[in-house]
Amino acid sequence: MNSLISIQNISKTYRKGPDQIDVIENISFNIQHKESIAIMGESGAGKSTLLQIMGGLLAPSEGKVFVENTSIYDVTDKARAHIRNQHIGFVFQFHYLLPEFSALENVCMPSVIAKHQKNQEKAKDLLEKVGLSHRMKHKPSELSGGEQQRVAIARALMMEPRLLLADEPTGNLDQKTSDKVAEVLLSLMKDQGALVLVTHSLSLAQKANKVYRLTKGELVLEKS
Ligand SMILES: Nc1ncnc2c1ncn2[C@@H]1O[C@H](COP(=O)(O)OP(=O)(O)OP(=O)(O)O)[C@@H](O)[C@H]1O
Ligand SMILES: [Mg+2]
Repeated sequence: MNSLISIQNISKTYRKGPDQIDVIENISFNIQHKESIAIMGESGAGKSTLLQIMGGLLAPSEGKVFVENTSIYDVTDKARAHIRNQHIGFVFQFHYLLPEFSALENVCMPSVIAKHQKNQEKAKDLLEKVGLSHRMKHKPSELSGGEQQRVAIARALMMEPRLLLADEPTGNLDQKTSDKVAEVLLSLMKDQGALVLVTHSLSLAQKANKVYRLTKGELVLEKS
């Protein structure tokens, strides 16, 4: 098994009171090193759920997730957290920046947490790449929604993850900025690791190596 990540017979059912919501039903697929895939699908289809399962944040009801041959829900919480911190970057649909800290400090945060040095030069370089060199000292509340999203993208790239999971990373951006940021994501990850991009934009999805659609709990390959 040489895939970077291997999803094997994953199902996810949420329970809410008496209701049982079958969001994902027996999905299997692999992602290779440096491959990019886009996942499309209607609101509520389960895209964010799938991404969280892939990233070690949400245990599936059934099935296994292997990241570089480690079954990530069969190890301790601590070991899983380590895999996340070292190998996986997230850009969440809602970005979760730390409100007390500047843009630059937010981007530095993963390397501080991993007990590396702050590596400000790298953080500055990334902020420049997403077009925010003039906003580094601003706190999230002093940034626009799209600017906050771009800070979150820079933060996700900080640890040079081998797998970047991006949940509608350009959803808040205008077309021009969106194209630019998507270009940064795709070009940086092409050299560095695999990219999973959840998006509603067909033109953005087409830039990935493969396009999947999540529909009725199943993942259908639309373009490869
Ligand atoms: N913790 C939860 N408990 C119960 N139901 C949930 C929970 N989280 C999500 N759901 C339901 O599961 C379904 C899938 O949610 P998910 O967030 O994965 O969808 P999505 O494809 O990312 O949608 P969007 O495009 O709107 O972001 C939705 O119908 C949602 O209401
Ligand atoms: Mg979502």
